Amino acid sequence: MKVSLVGFMGSGKSSVGKELSNLLDLPFVDLDEEIVIRTGKSIPSLFKEVGEKGFREIERELLLELLKLKKDFILSTGGGTPTYKDSMELINRYSSSFYLKTPFSLLWERIKEDKNRPLVSLGKERVRELFKEREKFYEKAKFTLDCEGKTPQEVAREIALILSSL
Ligand code: S3P
Repeated sequence: MKVSLVGFMGSGKSSVGKELSNLLDLPFVDLDEEIVIRTGKSIPSLFKEVGEKGFREIERELLLELLKLKKDFILSTGGGTPTYKDSMELINRYSSSFYLKTPFSLLWERIKEDKNRPLVSLGKERVRELFKEREKFYEKAKFTLDCEGKTPQEVAREIALILSSL
């Protein structure tokens, strides 16, 4: 079984993914980290060198490669991954997907100082618009979890429970 976590920057995909990986004893894969390993470059330098479009192409290629692997894992996607081309359909075809739904105000508080997330430099109002544009993609996930006021461990437990009932 492959499990994909989707949601905006700061929604806790990586921390929930690590908790879930412990709970289910499955490897954890972070798509951003894989991109950094594969290219040998940080996310901000990739955005500078190849632009957002170039980054999306690299991200999508790696996503497809991972989803088609035989092994099982918990995948934490990037906030923009599901919004490019038909990536959300691919995520749903090859894995059980969960949207970690979190209010924008909380997301912004978590990400606003983060220099490793190039899109944050667009400023709060543009990032809010981005969040609104992206929700329709995230909502295509098989399951939506309301994450407000919950710890990563609690969210991971909820996901494990849902998975056990499938
Ligand atoms: C992005 C989110 C980031 C990373 C890149 C672009 C986005 O991942 O892929 O900075 O477009 O929302 P996280 O969601 O893990 O921060």
